[in-house]
Amino acid sequence: MRTITLVTQKGGTGKTTIAASLAVAAAAAGESVVALDLDAQRSLAGWGEARSEATVAVDQVGAEFLPRLPQVLEALKGRGFTVAILDTAGVGSTGGNLAMKAATLCLVPARPSRLDLQATLPTLESLVRLGMRDRFAFVLNQCPTGRGTRSSEAARGLAEFGVLADPPLGLRADHQDAMATGQGVTEYAGKGKAADEIRMLWAWVDHKMKAKPARKSVRA
Ligand SMILES: Nc1ncnc2c1ncn2[C@@H]1O[C@H](COP(=O)(O)OP(=O)(O)OP(=O)(O)O)[C@@H](O)[C@H]1O
Ligand SMILES: [Mg+2]
Repeated sequence: MRTITLVTQKGGTGKTTIAASLAVAAAAAGESVVALDLDAQRSLAGWGEARSEATVAVDQVGAEFLPRLPQVLEALKGRGFTVAILDTAGVGSTGGNLAMKAATLCLVPARPSRLDLQATLPTLESLVRLGMRDRFAFVLNQCPTGRGTRSSEAARGLAEFGVLADPPLGLRADHQDAMATGQGVTEYAGKGKAADEIRMLWAWVDHKMKAKPARKSVRA
């Protein structure tokens, strides 16, 4: 089972939104997907409760179970899931650290603003400290969709610190509407640009994980 962890200390960058739509896109691509909410805010779990489709298993991992996250993931693997997507409350939490360590690939969403880019640094430090230097990628999210250089400047800035996932995700109302109805963007508006971007992001993530299989770091 491959595990993808959405993580960043900065709030509101799109961890939950990306986790939800990526889970749906991965399931549509043939994976057996479980999406786990490690955040006491329960945003992803609430999205799961609003869903009418059973294509993705969605569950909350309560604080009492977080120390046993590796065992929880092992049990899910035993049940036949091929992909687990973990949504976290951020780096400062015990759950965040465990979820980073458990990941085949960590995704670090960041909006294309100076403050957001700066705010990725503590997350980056934690990833390096945990031996995850080769197992994370930034995802530029909520990029203005008109003409402008802001996103490409942000992309250049992030690329200095690590791999940048492709494509950047635009700021699109489909993401907000899909979340509100318990859907992924590919379900909500399958022909829309948000859906295209998420399908491409899943393809990129899938390829990246296959190219760099999980390996335990001796630095961890
Ligand atoms: N690509 C996008 N286009 C439009 N809106 C977006 C996009 N990504 C996220 N949002 C919106 O931004 C807000 C924050 O997103 P989200 O809750 O997913 O972030 P988060 O990182 O999980 O936040 P938290 O740190 O509170 O858990 C939400 O209102 C969401 O609908
Ligand atoms: Mg969230």
